[in-house]
Amino acid sequence: ADGPQGVAMRKGLAFGAAVPSNLLNRSAEFRKILARDCGLLLGNNELKMAVVMPEPGRTDFAPADSVVRFARAHGQRLRGHALVWHEALPSWVAEQLAKASPAQAEDFLRRWIDTAMGRYRGMIESWDVLNEVLAGYGPVRREDGLRETPWLAALGPGYLDLAFRLAHDADPSAVLTWNEDSLEHDFGWVEARRARVLTRLEAMRKRGVPVRRFGIQAHLVSDHPFDAAKFRRFLRELGQLGVGIAITELDIDDKAFPADPAARDKGVADFARRFLDVALDEPALLDVVTWGLFDGDTWLNDHPDHRRPDGRRQRPLPLDEAMRPKPFRE
Ligand code: XIL
Repeated sequence: ADGPQGVAMRKGLAFGAAVPSNLLNRSAEFRKILARDCGLLLGNNELKMAVVMPEPGRTDFAPADSVVRFARAHGQRLRGHALVWHEALPSWVAEQLAKASPAQAEDFLRRWIDTAMGRYRGMIESWDVLNEVLAGYGPVRREDGLRETPWLAALGPGYLDLAFRLAHDADPSAVLTWNEDSLEHDFGWVEARRARVLTRLEAMRKRGVPVRRFGIQAHLVSDHPFDAAKFRRFLRELGQLGVGIAITELDIDDKAFPADPAARDKGVADFARRFLDVALDEPALLDVVTWGLFDGDTWLNDHPDHRRPDGRRQRPLPLDEAMRPKPFRE
């Protein structure tokens, strides 16, 4: 077996997956394949603000704790996902931010980051500090290309640097990551996003912002164009800025592939290989993480943009619904 996953592991990179704690706690079979296949784990939703702080005055780290406990028991490295993500804001926080002064918003952000990172200091080695802060999958209304979120409204564009500085204060040893979507395919608007990432990251590094890693989500879509040469150049330019690179949420939406499972699995494996061949070639690439490990646990079936027109369930991951290896893994 020497597919992309095998190659990643042989190169000494961490291969890992995002896992839901409920499945982890329920299924011995799932625990077995996680221990077998993954050198790195992270919660899927477990460390998002909406799960940890569902309502004022109540914090719930139990789901995240069970992922952390499992990984530590199995010698797996840990990532934390994600401190600042507009989609994970519970509504009560969004309401508070809307009426907060910048100083109050900063105070709130600091307390959240201290609480989450402080709990796992020395255990979670890298954190997604920012997730999906650029506009682009949809209209780009601002000159600076930032997505319009409650954090931006409350704190202004300085919130990006601020979040990294607060995270660095909370755990100086953690590897701090900016994680971003929609940078993989060959579209004009993606090209524009890549350029915005490079410019902004370079400026942040010059200002001494403690961002050490850049995360490329890699939610690939079967019928979207991929240009290996352009993607390779983007990775090289990222690496030249002195950051490490992580592939953080790899999966392949198989919508455009035929219904037949074998044909679909081949299409998915081929796309994964084309993508990872480029990524694994880049010296700055450090981690490869899939968004789920087996097809029974993928977010794609629940997402309107990703549901298959024939109603069948997506097969985007290295193992099938019965947790058997697919060509993607081999
Ligand atoms: C997804 C989860 O997998 C779903 O269970 C949840 O309902 C929504 O979020 N980009 C990200 C991830 O950064 O956090 C998202 O995870 C998938 C897209």
